[in-house]
Amino acid sequence: MKKIHIKKINIEKLNIIKSKSNHFINGFSNNENHSRSVYSDNKYFYKIWDKNYVYRENFDIAVKKIFSKYNIACSLYSVIVDEEGFTVGYITKKGKPISKCPMTYCNFFNLLKKSLALSGYFYSDLVSSNVVLINEEPSLIDLESFYHISLYDSLNNCNHEQIKPKEWSKFIKKEYDRYKNENSNT
Ligand SMILES: Nc1ncnc2c1ncn2[C@@H]1O[C@H](COP(=O)(O)OP(=O)(O)O)[C@@H](O)[C@H]1O
Ligand SMILES: [Mg+2]
Repeated sequence: MKKIHIKKINIEKLNIIKSKSNHFINGFSNNENHSRSVYSDNKYFYKIWDKNYVYRENFDIAVKKIFSKYNIACSLYSVIVDEEGFTVGYITKKGKPISKCPMTYCNFFNLLKKSLALSGYFYSDLVSSNVVLINEEPSLIDLESFYHISLYDSLNNCNHEQIKPKEWSKFIKKEYDRYKNENSNT
């Protein structure tokens, strides 16, 4: 995966799409850092966060275990790192927004299911604003909402984090029940 140093990005020249600074939430743990900004230019979108961003490790895991194996994030162009080597964001190719539910793109949805079955990680926020078309091919763009299947229950019971849409959540629940059966000692 391509890596670019944060200092090489001229943020002042980019358009601001959204910026949430000092955004702390009591979610899984207290005082989680949810601050992040999204910028764009003609070709790319840049998502940038602090190194203690709550989903930094979720993204790192997804890059290692999922995106390299299952073609669900063809938008991903480069990881952004800081001077200590921490991931502080990523760059995606600009895509075309979709209005349909992402679950209606059969090949893409099958790949999401396959990646869950084989990697044990699921994507929790499968809404149309998190998927674009790159040369007519669906791709995730919000790339850090991945969790291990063992966390299904805690995530479902957490007020802040809801698995979307409902039908996807139901599918993941079945995988979770299977995971629990396979991993129970009784
Ligand atoms: N590669 C891209 N192509 C087109 N639009 C994008 C791209 N990346 C981000 N966006 C736009 O920016 C919005 C916010 O980005 P996202 O990563 O979903 O942030 P958040 O974590 O705040 O939901 C997206 O919903 C989408 O409208
Ligand atoms: Mg999003």
